Amino acid sequence: MNDLTPSPDILDPIETASRDEITALQQQRLAWSLRHAYDNSAFYRKRFDEAGVHPDDFKTLEDLAKFPFTMKQDLRDTYPFGMFAVPREQLVRIHASSGTTGKPTVVGYTRNDIDVWADMVARSIRASGGRKGDIAHIAYGYGLFTGGLGAHYGAERLGCTVVPISGGMTERQVTLINDFKPRIIMVTPSYMLSILDEFKRQGLDPRESSFEVGIFGAEPWTNAMREEIEQAFNMNAVDIYGLSEVMGPGVANECVETKDGLHVWEDHFYPEIIDPTTGEVLPDGETGELVFTTLTKEGLPMVRYRTRDLTRLLPGTARSMRRMEKITGRTDDMIILRGVNVFPTQIEEQILKCRGLAPHFQIELIRKDRMDAMIVHVECTATEAATEARAASARELAHHIKSIIGISTRIEVHDPDDVARSEGKAQRVVDNRPA
Ligand code: DLL
Repeated sequence: MNDLTPSPDILDPIETASRDEITALQQQRLAWSLRHAYDNSAFYRKRFDEAGVHPDDFKTLEDLAKFPFTMKQDLRDTYPFGMFAVPREQLVRIHASSGTTGKPTVVGYTRNDIDVWADMVARSIRASGGRKGDIAHIAYGYGLFTGGLGAHYGAERLGCTVVPISGGMTERQVTLINDFKPRIIMVTPSYMLSILDEFKRQGLDPRESSFEVGIFGAEPWTNAMREEIEQAFNMNAVDIYGLSEVMGPGVANECVETKDGLHVWEDHFYPEIIDPTTGEVLPDGETGELVFTTLTKEGLPMVRYRTRDLTRLLPGTARSMRRMEKITGRTDDMIILRGVNVFPTQIEEQILKCRGLAPHFQIELIRKDRMDAMIVHVECTATEAATEARAASARELAHHIKSIIGISTRIEVHDPDDVARSEGKAQRVVDNRPA
């Protein structure tokens, strides 16, 4: 693979600024953002008043800890437009998350917000090794989900030729990839695996594809999965992170030259790590729940938004801005099985170690004899489909899971294509336990 390290002159000056410069900018922008939220959103004014804090109490970055958290439930309670800090007429775009239960969470953007978002995604694509003039195949879903349009505006901003294909119709995706020869693909890692299967089905060699850079996110994925995709397509696989409440994709991104965690674009999003139980702020290096405060957002400022994502903050490497470690899971994705905490990413890592298994999987939770149990549904590869080979793969996987994670699981090895696929975020856990 080519060295895609960018020449320093194409970076934004803040990407290589000193920590002091970054801190000074954050302090100034945070003061604005807290004031903006308090002055223009009845929701925040009430929250701050109830907590006995005022924007004037913010003098240095440490003072942020005095301000109350915001949660997803707050967006639900104020559905649809109750948290906005500008008159509705000033919003040029609305996005929303589908939400598994009840009402969706609605977010809104001013013209400026869309502009900053495009800049941050353009910066993310550049960090991933994308350049002006590249063709970018965007297979994140378009619509209310922030993935498609977020990636789209950023790729245009960087100067790419955008193919706005959205998710689905995998056969056609592969045909167009072959015809248009995109250098960049932006898609969820799980859907990239479906594209890989389709390459093979059409008798095409994925290593001969035009892809050099894949920008994967919207769901947790492991370094083992990175390796799998990079090998299969002979390309770079880079991690992009974001969430609609804070903006959408492009809150943090890995640099292709280091692939050592995601640089948080700290000039627009201020990260904290807290203890998810006590809410106490943890020092850099310690794992906990990621919390964001937006520094420049007008339409929907977010003050100390609890993401539920678990990670830790690390010093900058390829850029001066701090990194967040690849996300292992969300507090609400964590399965507690007979006292052991398990994340789907841990299961993914073990599956990828087994030669006879394909990386498509789903975890089913059941209750048997009043005990919770886990079934891992996974597929054999086409070459290891014989009954004995499957049984051997199942034993191998059960053994790895038992010895490394510490739980006993039932493994069901299905035919290729038998485990449910998704065209966007994969659904990794199906809970069939009685309520
Ligand atoms: O998933 C935004 C996005 C689109 C990010 C495309 C990257 C690419 P939401 O639908 O609001 O927004 O979901 C946000 O998805 O809190 C994480 O739990 C998860 N997530 C997003 N990116 C990553 C990632 C978009 N790189 C939620 N690794 C977040 C792990 C991720 N989890």
